[in-house]
Amino acid sequence: MYQFEVNGRQCQADSDMRLLDYLRQVLCITGTKDGCSSGVCGTCTVIVNGKKAKACMLRTSGLDGKSVITIEGLTDREKAVYVYAFGEAGAVQCGFCTPGMVISAKSLIDSNLSPTRGDVKKAIHGNICRCTGYVKIEDAILLAAKIIRENLPVPQTSVTAGVGEHFHRVDTAEKVLGTGEYVDDIVVPGMIYAKALRAAYPRARVDKIDIEKAKAHPDCAAILTAADVPFNKTGHIKKDWDVMIPEGGITRYIGDSIVLAATYHAETLDEVLGLVEVKYTELMPVTSPEQALAQNAPLIHSGGNLLAHESIDRGQADEAIAKSAYSVTCHYSTPMTDHAFMEPECAIAIPDGTNKLILYTASQSVYDEQREIAAMLKVPNENIRCQSKLVGGGFGGKEDMSVQHHAALMAFTTGRPVKVKFSRQESLEIHVKRHAMEIDITTSCDADGRLTAAKAVIVSDCGAYASLGGPVLQRACTHIGGPYHFDNFKVDGYCVYTNNVPGGAFRGFGVAQSCFAQETNINLLAGKIGMDPWKFRYINGIRPGESLPNGQIASEETAFIECLEAVKTAYESSPYAGIAGCMKNSGIGVGLPDYGRCRLAVIDGTVHIRTSAADIGQGIGTVATQILCETACITSDKTFFERPDTLLTPNSGTTTASRQTLFCGEATRIAAQKLKEELLTKTLTELEGEEFYGEYSGITDPMNSPKPHPVSHVAYSYGAQVVIMDADKRVVKVVAAHDVGQVINPKACEGQIEGGVLMGLGYGLTENFIMENGLVKSKYGTLGLLRAAQAPPIEIKLIGKADKKGLAYGAKGIGEISSVAAAPACAAAAFQVDGAVRTKLPLENTYYSK
Ligand code: FES
Ligand code: FES
Repeated sequence: MYQFEVNGRQCQADSDMRLLDYLRQVLCITGTKDGCSSGVCGTCTVIVNGKKAKACMLRTSGLDGKSVITIEGLTDREKAVYVYAFGEAGAVQCGFCTPGMVISAKSLIDSNLSPTRGDVKKAIHGNICRCTGYVKIEDAILLAAKIIRENLPVPQTSVTAGVGEHFHRVDTAEKVLGTGEYVDDIVVPGMIYAKALRAAYPRARVDKIDIEKAKAHPDCAAILTAADVPFNKTGHIKKDWDVMIPEGGITRYIGDSIVLAATYHAETLDEVLGLVEVKYTELMPVTSPEQALAQNAPLIHSGGNLLAHESIDRGQADEAIAKSAYSVTCHYSTPMTDHAFMEPECAIAIPDGTNKLILYTASQSVYDEQREIAAMLKVPNENIRCQSKLVGGGFGGKEDMSVQHHAALMAFTTGRPVKVKFSRQESLEIHVKRHAMEIDITTSCDADGRLTAAKAVIVSDCGAYASLGGPVLQRACTHIGGPYHFDNFKVDGYCVYTNNVPGGAFRGFGVAQSCFAQETNINLLAGKIGMDPWKFRYINGIRPGESLPNGQIASEETAFIECLEAVKTAYESSPYAGIAGCMKNSGIGVGLPDYGRCRLAVIDGTVHIRTSAADIGQGIGTVATQILCETACITSDKTFFERPDTLLTPNSGTTTASRQTLFCGEATRIAAQKLKEELLTKTLTELEGEEFYGEYSGITDPMNSPKPHPVSHVAYSYGAQVVIMDADKRVVKVVAAHDVGQVINPKACEGQIEGGVLMGLGYGLTENFIMENGLVKSKYGTLGLLRAAQAPPIEIKLIGKADKKGLAYGAKGIGEISSVAAAPACAAAAFQVDGAVRTKLPLENTYYSK
């Protein structure tokens, strides 16, 4: 027995266990998070005898006589200070890293009341944040130190929350203090635990599955195979993903499920799965699109290895290239990368005994999950109620089924509540990645430097299952022209099944890959004609009324040129500055259903915002609150943002394609306008029980529409980023100017850009997801995620010509575009230092590759 103190309370552990498990499972205090269980991420940071430590690496046997402080153990004054400071600085996004950050901050400030920014960076070195770019977390810690040092009162937080106001996020307190619920924080009485046995080989025939020994284990609650699944396929768009591989089936990647086991105690799951006997015939995996497209290549899916072919052909690209004064042709290679959201996947399914169940989930769309799970179980959609808890980051990686369908299947079969939680390594090996792409592109201009044409071929490694491979390829193709005006544009794209981990949605959605290729080509082309790359972009940049390479006419609010102007000084400030431009659609577009929905319900004098738009950290709850307050002329203390729930919140589509600020925002504005009209003659009390509904549907033209100027998307965002390196090819500063239309919340918008820039720098300089022969070689600690000390100063310039009259007051998406230009800007900066052309990511021969 081990005795120690936790938050001033005497505790005892009867057995030797990890401190993290003791805190979360025995004491049921869950502010200390489990992001990796391997000492890398810092979400489990606590203070032990005055020193910060990682609870996942400590055991109760080593704590005898010691004192532990967790986020719950902060004094009331400290809690108030950190909630205010993190809210004021805009330091909270998904929140999964936040309690750990606060503990690291406390540990610093307890010993140093006047820290510098450098001290802060050092103090949070062990804490990874995937959302914020660290800037605002550092600001928050410096502000907290000032309030504590000068013994200042904690200011009152404003309830004025109009559009454009600096307003603290609605979820600040629960995320800073760790009281908000993520799925893994929940315990349901009678809950059992499930986990899948994964394939031993990326490609092998499953000859025999023997579950008898596993079933006989005393802690085994159930073992399921493919034969137990009513419909053994899921898939976001194309239903090609096996819930489990049946006997006689062939595995397609290392993350395929073979059996699903449930136990009464989570600790015995691996032991039970170890008793399952599977006989395989190992087959040679297909690990590149080239192999997959070769003659006589084995078919990964019966319909063939080509998932999608995308083609855009406007003008006369070949002729224009032939006639152009200058052309650059290059081949580019971009790698698979992992989203590395801080919260590993977790779901809990609770059956009610009548063919219905509730799913607690953390995803990018509760309605997508409802639809896919209902189809798998062959029940009506209404039988599956999906409720979102807090989402600890997504970045596109939480659009597909990962744990949800397994939890639902096991709960449906056993009649028990079931939790499925991925370890960090399972998360790495199973969920979709950013697609690796190979790109050949020619870009041409005339003797004056005017772009004349671009022609490209993109080959995308789809991995084992379709996921969003088709749409991601399509966006890579539609955006490879970049934010420029020219008419001759030809692109062919191919998305090819392999036995690698599947590719899927990832912040940028194919545009990060194509932007790297085109922007690097443009820098080379400018060099070829002896023109400054900034000027080259200024001449060719899209202006209102001009047509984009895809034919769409740029709207009046288009502000790419203003973005270029905003970074000009920074670009000219250093000989080692690199520049890149970018554009990104807001909304799904291309003629597909694309809607935002919101219902406002007046309950107990408060306006509840009900929408299924998932807040995966970007802050749609705060955006919707500000739009409601602006429109209906009410204060934020009269509002409440509810989490997505298929029973209560209308379907606002997936949080994807940088769409919710515009789509859900406009739906909220429409609903709030109706509320406002009622408020002219009635009070909120008098409106008790009333509901106000808003819906916005974006109307666009399909791909390859015969119209000369199709409307592919309802809005585009634009940006220009400058990366400045030193002579060692280390990034010393980034300046990012982004056309975001009307800013709804300035700090939140900046925070999105800072986080996107850092993710873009990682993509350009350090991140890689390594697979060899279909096997995953990367660990969480080797993904190349940038830490605070590696994060350079990031200067943000918010550009927008909107006048509050447009959709959602003229706001446009910022989630994805912020992450796409940094990689080519890094390549350009490194070129300025050593003159080497880099066409592969992560970039070789920089400070970071040493
Ligand atoms: S959970 Fe302990 S460091 Fe990640
Ligand atoms: S806010 Fe830091 S990981 Fe999301």
